[in-house]
Amino acid sequence: MLRIANVNSNNVLYDLGSGDGRIVITAAQKYGTHGIGIDIDPQRIQEANQNAQQAGVSDRVEFRQQDLFQTNLSDATVVTLYLLPEVNLKLRLKLLRELKPGTRIVSHAFDMGEWKPEKVVQVEGRTAYYWIVPEKVPENLRS
Ligand SMILES: C[S@@+](CC[C@H](N)C(=O)[O-])C[C@H]1O[C@@H](n2cnc3c(N)ncnc32)[C@H](O)[C@@H]1O
Repeated sequence: MLRIANVNSNNVLYDLGSGDGRIVITAAQKYGTHGIGIDIDPQRIQEANQNAQQAGVSDRVEFRQQDLFQTNLSDATVVTLYLLPEVNLKLRLKLLRELKPGTRIVSHAFDMGEWKPEKVVQVEGRTAYYWIVPEKVPENLRS
């Protein structure tokens, strides 16, 4: 997912539903990315903070216990998702409205319905979908 999004040290990466923090932590370790993980489950946040400490990247990552639908995403340059099909669909308009044009999004396993991806990549039997936020919300995705 990180290779597909071509992440680098200038990026601000949000992982929505960050679980044990693996995406944010790997991005910080391998690419020097500043990462923010959002998870609603306090236990996952605790695990993620421990994992970040063990990996030595606590200064580049932050985990917030929050509902991803209540999270302001406007400073993201890359967003990663591994959620559920219905959650992706519910999130679509928020992503299109709140993210800056040019922001890259990668979703593991699930697409966003009518919002067709720029790329679909198969890696070791898994599928990743890649989008770039357009200048304007396309008419067919406004509701
Ligand atoms: C399949 S896990 C993905 C974990 C991690 N991103 C990964 O790729 O390994 C999905 C995570 O989303 C979190 N989640 C589900 N709904 C959420 C919501 N509304 N707000 C924040 N986190 C949520 C769950 O607690 C869970 O940790």
